[in-house]
Amino acid sequence: MKRNEITAPAGTESHVLKVSDITKPFEFDLSRPLEIEVGCGKGQFLTRRAAENPDCDFLGIERMLERVRLFDGKCRRGKIGNAKVLRLEALYTFHYLLPAHHARKVYVFFPDPWPKKKHHSHRLFGPLFLNALWKRLEIGGRLEFATDHREYFETVKECFAGDSRFEEVPPMDRPKEVWTEFETMFREQGLPIYSAAWRSLEADDAELEPLRIPPEAEPREGIARRYE
Ligand SMILES: C[S@@+](CC[C@H](N)C(=O)[O-])C[C@H]1O[C@@H](n2cnc3c(N)ncnc32)[C@H](O)[C@@H]1O
Repeated sequence: MKRNEITAPAGTESHVLKVSDITKPFEFDLSRPLEIEVGCGKGQFLTRRAAENPDCDFLGIERMLERVRLFDGKCRRGKIGNAKVLRLEALYTFHYLLPAHHARKVYVFFPDPWPKKKHHSHRLFGPLFLNALWKRLEIGGRLEFATDHREYFETVKECFAGDSRFEEVPPMDRPKEVWTEFETMFREQGLPIYSAAWRSLEADDAELEPLRIPPEAEPREGIARRYE
Protein backbone atom coordinates (compact mmCIF):
# COMPACT_ATOMS: atom_id res chain seq x y z
CA MET A 1 0.00 0.00 0.00
CA LYS A 2 1.33 3.44 -0.89
CA ARG A 3 1.56 5.50 2.27
CA ASN A 4 1.79 9.20 3.02
CA GLU A 5 5.31 10.56 2.88
CA ILE A 6 6.54 12.10 6.09
CA THR A 7 9.49 13.88 4.52
CA ALA A 8 9.10 17.40 3.20
CA PRO A 9 8.79 17.72 -0.57
CA ALA A 10 12.21 17.87 -2.26
CA GLY A 11 13.68 21.33 -2.39
CA THR A 12 11.67 22.74 0.51
CA GLU A 13 12.43 22.93 4.18
CA SER A 14 8.84 22.65 5.31
CA HIS A 15 8.24 20.89 8.61
CA VAL A 16 4.53 20.59 7.86
CA LEU A 17 3.62 17.02 6.95
CA LYS A 18 2.14 16.71 3.53
CA VAL A 19 -1.09 14.70 3.62
CA SER A 20 -1.85 13.42 0.16
CA ASP A 21 -4.53 10.97 1.31
CA ILE A 22 -6.14 11.01 4.75
CA THR A 23 -6.99 7.31 4.46
CA LYS A 24 -3.35 6.23 4.23
CA PRO A 25 -1.16 5.78 7.33
CA PHE A 26 2.07 7.75 7.69
CA GLU A 27 5.32 5.89 7.30
CA PHE A 28 7.67 6.61 10.19
CA ASP A 29 11.26 5.53 10.60
CA LEU A 30 10.56 2.77 13.10
CA SER A 31 14.25 2.55 14.04
CA ARG A 32 13.90 5.95 15.75
CA PRO A 33 11.79 6.68 18.83
CA LEU A 34 8.78 8.94 18.40
CA GLU A 35 7.15 11.49 20.70
CA ILE A 36 3.86 13.18 19.85
CA GLU A 37 2.19 16.32 21.16
CA VAL A 38 -1.55 16.70 20.64
CA GLY A 39 -2.68 20.30 20.20
CA CYS A 40 0.92 21.48 20.07
CA GLY A 41 -0.06 25.10 19.40
CA LYS A 42 2.87 27.20 18.24
CA GLY A 43 5.35 24.50 19.26
CA GLN A 44 7.12 26.11 22.21
CA PHE A 45 7.38 22.80 24.10
CA LEU A 46 7.88 20.31 21.28
CA THR A 47 10.40 22.22 19.18
CA ARG A 48 12.57 22.79 22.22
CA ARG A 49 12.36 19.11 23.19
CA ALA A 50 13.22 18.14 19.61
CA ALA A 51 16.26 20.43 19.57
CA GLU A 52 17.47 18.85 22.80
CA ASN A 53 16.85 15.24 21.65
CA PRO A 54 18.20 14.82 18.11
CA ASP A 55 18.02 11.01 18.31
CA CYS A 56 14.23 11.03 18.57
CA ASP A 57 11.51 12.11 16.11
CA PHE A 58 8.78 14.51 17.20
CA LEU A 59 5.32 15.00 15.76
CA GLY A 60 3.00 17.87 16.65
CA ILE A 61 -0.69 17.60 15.80
CA GLU A 62 -2.51 20.91 15.57
CA ARG A 63 -5.62 21.94 13.71
CA MET A 64 -5.14 25.73 13.62
CA LEU A 65 -3.31 26.81 10.49
CA GLU A 66 -1.69 29.91 11.98
CA ARG A 67 -0.21 27.86 14.85
CA VAL A 68 1.04 25.22 12.41
CA ARG A 69 2.84 27.98 10.48
CA LEU A 70 4.43 29.32 13.66
CA PHE A 71 5.59 25.80 14.59
CA ASP A 72 7.11 25.46 11.13
CA GLY A 73 8.85 28.81 11.49
CA LYS A 74 10.42 27.79 14.80
CA CYS A 75 11.80 24.60 13.21
CA ARG A 76 13.17 26.47 10.20
CA ARG A 77 14.88 29.17 12.27
CA GLY A 78 16.25 26.62 14.75
CA LYS A 79 17.22 24.14 11.97
CA ILE A 80 15.33 21.45 13.89
CA GLY A 81 15.21 18.57 11.43
CA ASN A 82 13.59 15.98 13.70
CA ALA A 83 10.27 17.80 14.34
CA LYS A 84 7.23 17.78 12.07
CA VAL A 85 3.75 19.17 12.44
CA LEU A 86 0.51 17.81 11.05
CA ARG A 87 -2.62 19.90 10.55
CA LEU A 88 -5.29 17.34 11.24
CA GLU A 89 -7.82 16.36 13.88
CA ALA A 90 -6.10 14.41 16.67
CA LEU A 91 -8.55 11.58 17.30
CA TYR A 92 -8.72 10.79 13.59
CA THR A 93 -4.92 10.87 13.32
CA PHE A 94 -4.47 8.53 16.28
CA HIS A 95 -7.14 6.21 15.01
CA TYR A 96 -6.00 5.84 11.41
CA LEU A 97 -2.65 7.37 10.58
CA LEU A 98 -0.05 6.40 13.19
CA PRO A 99 1.98 3.18 13.49
CA ALA A 100 0.92 0.59 16.09
CA HIS A 101 2.75 0.63 19.43
CA HIS A 102 5.56 2.94 18.40
CA ALA A 103 5.24 6.26 20.28
CA ARG A 104 7.20 6.33 23.51
CA LYS A 105 5.48 9.46 24.76
CA VAL A 106 2.35 11.42 24.01
CA TYR A 107 1.90 14.89 25.50
CA VAL A 108 -1.47 16.57 25.87
CA PHE A 109 -1.04 19.96 27.50
CA PHE A 110 -3.97 22.30 28.15
CA PRO A 111 -6.44 20.68 25.75
CA ASP A 112 -9.60 22.70 25.19
CA PRO A 113 -11.71 21.90 28.32
CA TRP A 114 -15.11 22.58 26.72
CA PRO A 115 -16.52 23.54 30.13
CA LYS A 116 -20.22 23.63 29.19
CA LYS A 117 -21.97 20.28 29.58
CA LYS A 118 -23.59 20.55 26.16
CA HIS A 119 -20.09 20.75 24.64
CA HIS A 120 -18.52 17.81 26.51
CA SER A 121 -18.75 15.66 23.36
CA HIS A 122 -16.03 17.89 21.85
CA ARG A 123 -13.54 16.86 24.53
CA LEU A 124 -10.54 14.82 23.40
CA PHE A 125 -10.41 12.38 26.31
CA GLY A 126 -12.96 9.59 26.29
CA PRO A 127 -13.06 5.87 25.45
CA LEU A 128 -12.42 6.41 21.73
CA PHE A 129 -9.25 8.40 22.32
CA LEU A 130 -8.01 5.99 25.00
CA ASN A 131 -8.47 3.07 22.60
CA ALA A 132 -6.48 4.79 19.88
CA LEU A 133 -3.89 6.11 22.35
CA TRP A 134 -3.22 2.62 23.73
CA LYS A 135 -2.82 1.29 20.19
CA ARG A 136 -0.21 3.94 19.28
CA LEU A 137 1.85 3.95 22.48
CA GLU A 138 4.60 1.36 22.84
CA ILE A 139 3.90 -0.93 25.80
CA GLY A 140 5.28 1.04 28.74
CA GLY A 141 4.90 4.30 26.78
CA ARG A 142 3.54 7.33 28.61
CA LEU A 143 0.86 9.94 28.28
CA GLU A 144 1.67 13.25 30.00
CA PHE A 145 -1.30 15.52 30.70
CA ALA A 146 -1.63 19.00 32.19
CA THR A 147 -4.53 21.41 32.47
CA ASP A 148 -5.65 24.44 34.45
CA HIS A 149 -9.23 23.13 34.48
CA ARG A 150 -9.98 21.22 37.70
CA GLU A 151 -13.20 19.55 36.58
CA TYR A 152 -11.69 18.33 33.29
CA PHE A 153 -8.66 17.07 35.20
CA GLU A 154 -10.87 14.98 37.50
CA THR A 155 -12.86 13.68 34.52
CA VAL A 156 -9.70 12.61 32.66
CA LYS A 157 -8.39 10.86 35.79
CA GLU A 158 -11.68 8.96 36.12
CA CYS A 159 -11.50 8.02 32.46
CA PHE A 160 -8.02 6.43 32.89
CA ALA A 161 -8.94 4.87 36.25
CA GLY A 162 -11.70 2.93 34.45
CA ASP A 163 -9.28 1.54 31.84
CA SER A 164 -7.09 -1.38 32.98
CA ARG A 165 -4.69 -0.89 30.02
CA PHE A 166 -3.14 2.11 31.81
CA GLU A 167 -1.58 2.68 35.21
CA GLU A 168 -1.04 6.08 36.75
CA VAL A 169 2.61 7.08 37.24
CA PRO A 170 4.19 10.28 38.60
CA PRO A 171 3.98 13.12 36.03
CA MET A 172 7.09 14.74 34.59
CA ASP A 173 8.61 17.70 36.40
CA ARG A 174 7.32 21.06 35.18
CA PRO A 175 10.23 23.53 35.35
CA LYS A 176 9.90 26.70 33.27
CA GLU A 177 11.84 25.11 30.40
CA VAL A 178 8.97 22.70 29.66
CA TRP A 179 6.13 25.21 29.83
CA THR A 180 3.94 25.58 26.78
CA GLU A 181 2.54 28.93 25.61
CA PHE A 182 -0.68 28.36 27.57
CA GLU A 183 1.11 27.16 30.68
CA THR A 184 3.27 30.29 30.64
CA MET A 185 0.13 32.44 30.36
CA PHE A 186 -1.77 30.56 33.09
CA ARG A 187 1.17 30.63 35.51
CA GLU A 188 1.59 34.36 34.96
CA GLN A 189 -2.07 34.69 35.98
CA GLY A 190 -1.35 32.64 39.13
CA LEU A 191 -3.72 29.83 38.10
CA PRO A 192 -3.19 26.34 39.54
CA ILE A 193 -1.85 23.70 37.15
CA TYR A 194 -2.93 20.07 37.48
CA SER A 195 -0.80 17.35 35.91
CA ALA A 196 -0.86 13.57 35.73
CA ALA A 197 0.69 10.77 33.68
CA TRP A 198 -0.12 7.20 32.77
CA ARG A 199 1.87 4.25 31.43
CA SER A 200 0.41 1.73 28.99
CA LEU A 201 0.36 -1.94 29.97
CA GLU A 202 0.23 -5.24 28.06
CA ALA A 203 -3.35 -6.02 27.06
CA ASP A 204 -5.43 -7.75 24.41
CA ASP A 205 -4.39 -6.06 21.16
CA ALA A 206 -7.71 -5.94 19.31
CA GLU A 207 -8.19 -4.05 16.02
CA LEU A 208 -9.71 -0.58 16.41
CA GLU A 209 -13.34 -0.41 15.37
CA PRO A 210 -13.86 2.05 12.48
CA LEU A 211 -14.86 5.50 13.74
CA ARG A 212 -18.49 6.31 13.13
CA ILE A 213 -18.59 9.90 11.92
CA PRO A 214 -22.12 11.28 11.74
CA PRO A 215 -23.01 12.68 8.31
CA GLU A 216 -23.34 16.21 9.68
CA ALA A 217 -19.73 16.06 10.92
CA GLU A 218 -18.21 14.85 7.65
CA PRO A 219 -16.07 17.33 5.73
CA ARG A 220 -18.26 18.87 3.02
CA GLU A 221 -17.29 21.25 0.26
CA GLY A 222 -14.04 21.95 2.08
CA ILE A 223 -15.76 22.88 5.32
CA ALA A 224 -15.41 20.54 8.32
CA ARG A 225 -18.70 20.85 10.19
CA ARG A 226 -18.78 20.27 13.92
CA TYR A 227 -20.97 18.00 15.97
CA GLU A 228 -24.05 19.86 17.19
C1 LIG B 1 -5.77 25.57 24.69
S1 LIG B 1 -4.72 25.32 23.32
C2 LIG B 1 -3.19 24.73 24.07
C3 LIG B 1 -2.02 24.78 23.12
C4 LIG B 1 -0.71 24.21 23.68
N1 LIG B 1 -0.87 22.80 24.01
C5 LIG B 1 -0.30 24.98 24.88
O1 LIG B 1 -0.39 24.44 26.00
O2 LIG B 1 0.15 26.12 24.72
C6 LIG B 1 -5.36 23.84 22.61
C7 LIG B 1 -4.78 23.58 21.24
O3 LIG B 1 -5.20 22.32 20.78
C8 LIG B 1 -5.64 22.44 19.43
N2 LIG B 1 -6.65 21.40 19.28
C9 LIG B 1 -7.78 21.29 20.00
N3 LIG B 1 -8.46 20.19 19.64
C10 LIG B 1 -7.72 19.57 18.68
C11 LIG B 1 -7.91 18.41 17.90
N4 LIG B 1 -8.98 17.63 18.08
N5 LIG B 1 -6.98 18.07 17.00
C12 LIG B 1 -5.88 18.85 16.83
N6 LIG B 1 -5.65 19.99 17.53
C13 LIG B 1 -6.56 20.34 18.44
C14 LIG B 1 -6.19 23.84 19.33
O4 LIG B 1 -6.19 24.32 18.01
C15 LIG B 1 -5.23 24.60 20.22
O5 LIG B 1 -4.10 25.07 19.53
